[in-house]
Amino acid sequence: MAYEVLKAGRGLELRPLRLADARALFAQVDADRARLRRWLPWPDANRGPEDSRAYILRMRAQARAGIGQSFGLWWRDRLVGVAGFIWIDQPNRSGALGYWLAREAEGRGLMTAAVSALLRHGFRTLGLNRIEIRAGIRNRRSRAIPERLGFRREGTLRQAEWVNDRFVDHAVYGLLAGEWKGRR
Ligand SMILES: CC(C)(COP(=O)(O)OP(=O)(O)OC[C@H]1O[C@@H](n2cnc3c(N)ncnc32)[C@H](O)[C@@H]1OP(=O)(O)O)[C@@H](O)C(=O)NCCC(=O)NCCS
Repeated sequence: MAYEVLKAGRGLELRPLRLADARALFAQVDADRARLRRWLPWPDANRGPEDSRAYILRMRAQARAGIGQSFGLWWRDRLVGVAGFIWIDQPNRSGALGYWLAREAEGRGLMTAAVSALLRHGFRTLGLNRIEIRAGIRNRRSRAIPERLGFRREGTLRQAEWVNDRFVDHAVYGLLAGEWKGRR
């Protein structure tokens, strides 16, 4: 499956994660862990660059197997976050997106642009029919992304995820290839 650099406009590039990114990736997580752990379950287990290295190796293995694709978000020559397909289900031509952004890059529309680029990549290049986003019900910033991009709210998964100290309900959003605005 194609796994290549995606240009999202406004100087934002999505680049397949490389082992050489491990230090920069860890530095971003470490600088922002209190904020990230509010909605993400993994920052506590990410304790050093070697953990980021292991993560990148796992992501590259997933990409080779065609079951996921994660990209580093590069903006102004800095790695400012990660976004991509946390799973791809090829027989059903379906995939789910996940994302996080460093605080310095928040509030500028960069993740909406990144997810737009991933929709194009998913529907056009990977041939997906359905793309899903699950966000914590109270995660206003995360939910705003699928809402801005024309996803349909499909339901609620109650207590779907254990995030550090509590269960979080998920709002499930879906977008089908035939509904995607960029399809023409
Ligand atoms: C979720 C997360 C990626 C959202 O980041 P974000 O910066 O709010 O999202 P975007 O990059 O799309 O930016 C949207 C913001 O930029 C503003 N913006 C500026 N220019 C914009 C443009 N051209 N297009 C869209 N939005 C724009 C929007 O108004 C919005 O700000 P507001 O909420 O103050 O109104 C970020 O908050 C994050 O990493 N959180 C922690 C991890 C997390 O929760 N991950 C998701 C788990 S499901």
